[in-house]
Amino acid sequence: MSKKLNIGLFGFGVVGQGLYDIIKTKNLNLEIVKIAIKNKYKQRSLPETLFTDNRDELLNNPEINTIVELINDTEAAFDIVSRALSSGKNVVSASKKMIALHLEELIALQHQHGTSLLYEGAVCGSIPIIRNLEEYYDNELLHSISGIFNGSSNYILSKGFIENMDYATALKQAQDLGFAETDPTMDVGGFDAKFKLIIAAAHAYGVVVKPEEVLNIGIQNLSAHDLQYAREKNLKIKLVPVAKELDNGHVTLFVLPKLVNENEFLYNVEYEYNGVIVQAAFADQQFFFGKGAGGHPTGSAVLSDIAALRYDYQYEYKKAKESKGLNFTNDIELNVYLRYEDDNLVKALNFIHIHESYHSDAYKFVIGKINLKNIIATQQQIADSKAFIAFADQLTTVNLAAS
Ligand code: HSE
Repeated sequence: MSKKLNIGLFGFGVVGQGLYDIIKTKNLNLEIVKIAIKNKYKQRSLPETLFTDNRDELLNNPEINTIVELINDTEAAFDIVSRALSSGKNVVSASKKMIALHLEELIALQHQHGTSLLYEGAVCGSIPIIRNLEEYYDNELLHSISGIFNGSSNYILSKGFIENMDYATALKQAQDLGFAETDPTMDVGGFDAKFKLIIAAAHAYGVVVKPEEVLNIGIQNLSAHDLQYAREKNLKIKLVPVAKELDNGHVTLFVLPKLVNENEFLYNVEYEYNGVIVQAAFADQQFFFGKGAGGHPTGSAVLSDIAALRYDYQYEYKKAKESKGLNFTNDIELNVYLRYEDDNLVKALNFIHIHESYHSDAYKFVIGKINLKNIIATQQQIADSKAFIAFADQLTTVNLAAS
């Protein structure tokens, strides 16, 4: 018999309300005892007595055995989650930034107090990727995980590519639909995708990488020329996070726009949908597809975690415990497309090889092979000069002995 969960819910925004809608349709042996919100005076669809603006009313209530944290204030979220775990309460969270920033401490807190923190809803909305990486791929040789991990930026790209909608209108729609972060730079700059990638990599490879070590370049500098180039070549542009195990004990992570061809799974992932490609040694390529943002899709993943807590499910972080000793590196080669104005940028990027270069009055681009470390070193120059960079091809290791 599963145990009854008495839930203290933090946050009643898009995901909190989505979760509530789903819960009320089912008899799940759980009860939302109290909901903590920032503004007590805001009109709510539920009785006033259910709400409080005092987090202690939930955290200090011995009747509440489960905390569900769905707020978008990173530091407050960490305070709530760490206090709950330390006081014997299990937690479900969808705060990807908070989890990626504090993953090591959160793992330690769970071990120290024997409590469980689940966060399927934090990574790719409705797609059950974390539990799959944690459980299913334990004995597999995982070559890479990549995909589309951010619904808002994909929504903007789809609206632009398929419907010719301008960037600002598409972003406004993503915000109105409740997909976008409070600060949309998190979405379009690839930060949100990076946080999710870091969480996924911990379960795939047992590495806990700090966000500041991982490159993220987003779609802010995408121009009509880039779309035209992609269309002419029958390609699409997607924002793609990659985690890849390299040959000699290294793993690399990065987030960059990617030129995707029609034979790739990601080519047909549009709007707020997400997709995760797992490349495994014997299973070969596998593809997970589903809605990556929105109240009900994310709420369904949160509910799945809540349901798992009825049976005291915990992530074991098996791969971190039985560490293969993988080290993180940015020392890899990538094939990239670079549309630029300033010739100095091409020099600074120090291409290993240029396969193609194009100059016209309207725009210039080069396609060639480059080391990821050089993209990181020139990241500010790329942003300031409104250049657009996208990767296009296979990855190969280089000079790992030196890293
Ligand atoms: N802003 C996020 C996205 C929400 O667009 O994917 C879901 O994590």
